[in-house]
Amino acid sequence: MSTSESEVHVALLSSAGMGHLTPFLRLAALLAHNNVRVTLIVTRPTVSLAESHLLARFRSSLPQVKILDFHLLPLDPSTVNSSDPFWLRFEAIRRSSHLLSPLILSLQPPLSAFVLDIMLISPVIPITRALSLPSFVLFTSSVKMLSFFSHLPTSSFLADDDDVCIPGISPIPRSSIPPPLLVPDSLFAKIFFQDSSHLKKLDGVLINSFKELEPETIDAINGEETLRKLLPPVFDIGPFMPCEFEKVDNENSADCPLKWLDEQPEDSVVYVSFGSRTAMKRDQIREIGDGLMRSGCRFVWVVKDKPVDREEEEELEEVVGHELMVKLKKKGLVVKTWVDQREILGHRSVGGFVSHCGWNSVVEAAWYGVRIMAWPLNGDQRINADVVEKSGLGVWEKKWGWGQVVNGEEIGERIREMMNNESLKKSAQKLRDAAREAVGDGGTSHVAFQRLTGEWKKKKNASVSVA
Ligand SMILES: *[C@@H]1O[C@H](CO)[C@@H](O)[C@H](O)[C@H]1NC(C)=O
Repeated sequence: MSTSESEVHVALLSSAGMGHLTPFLRLAALLAHNNVRVTLIVTRPTVSLAESHLLARFRSSLPQVKILDFHLLPLDPSTVNSSDPFWLRFEAIRRSSHLLSPLILSLQPPLSAFVLDIMLISPVIPITRALSLPSFVLFTSSVKMLSFFSHLPTSSFLADDDDVCIPGISPIPRSSIPPPLLVPDSLFAKIFFQDSSHLKKLDGVLINSFKELEPETIDAINGEETLRKLLPPVFDIGPFMPCEFEKVDNENSADCPLKWLDEQPEDSVVYVSFGSRTAMKRDQIREIGDGLMRSGCRFVWVVKDKPVDREEEEELEEVVGHELMVKLKKKGLVVKTWVDQREILGHRSVGGFVSHCGWNSVVEAAWYGVRIMAWPLNGDQRINADVVEKSGLGVWEKKWGWGQVVNGEEIGERIREMMNNESLKKSAQKLRDAAREAVGDGGTSHVAFQRLTGEWKKKKNASVSVA
């Protein structure tokens, strides 16, 4: 089976942003380690520096994965209703998707499957279909969000003011609907509504989740007739393991948190980060600093002032304020650069995580058994925070609304509660054990992965024997 004709070859196409790229690269690594030939299709320049740095590290650590540049057509901004650089990239890829056919046809051995990003479904499906190429989506959020997405075409939340009720899963309150979807002419809403009705045309959806993290929803997508009708086969191949290539080379810089973490007692540090693209307002940044001081905990806090890292120009001290910075430095570490979250969450001194609940952060926290204080700020994050709360991975103060400035006193109190919560600590550790069991031999994730690659092989052999 080692001849190139019988070798399974898969191409992966992400959209934009670390939240999408990271799981795609982890999947690429997982496939490569299981003897699947992988081609990664990338668009350049990447929107953020963090993406291009990650790609460079990936390339040197997994040279067996072929990286193919996808040159996009220029996008006329006056034809797009958005100024968000990541959404603009989604749209640019969508409008250039017809250029994918020659790229796909140039690959050797011929592809057995194509794995694409959720933001690219409707323009890419006709291309892969025309080439009779099985297509899969790697869904980069929770399964709960997937069921919400699949339900969109039949949903009436734009017309009425109701919660979203999907058979088999607990209702999604109106206040948890991703805000851009309630702006009907937003680019994001347009993509979401357009693409969700094409889900069924896919050959499968790969999810970075596992049963113990989302028992209710995973049972529902397997059991509920209504959901099964809306979705293609779902492969629960998560949790994706954080990988060595994600290591940031900052050991000798002042921003390296590891040395400092080594000196802290076990389970004493709270890690505070709101992901790769959520910029905080200045007044909220100051309140968080105040809250951290009031919590009495040690901390590592990643400050983000701009949605795209290339635009970060002001010094940390200007953003946080000199006086507060002096106090903070006595108790913890404040950084304004990209950190290797994997290393921080995996450190024995880190016990808690103040998180926006971007899905990768949630899954990483589960992987390392770090409890979460959920503070969703946008998009799918309230839907994910609900998963965090229900699974016992964390706590969530629901009354903090989207974009509302929360004061330091409240923040400090919630952090202290989370850090001192023994039952929460235990349930987060149970999830870590379950996560590791899922990917272990015979675990649910392992079995789903075998099923997936088995299907690819079968299709491959069928097409080889026809040829
Ligand atoms: C502690 O965590 C549990 C979940 O394990 C939660 O139900 C409870 O409300 C938390 N207690 C506090 C004081 O936050």
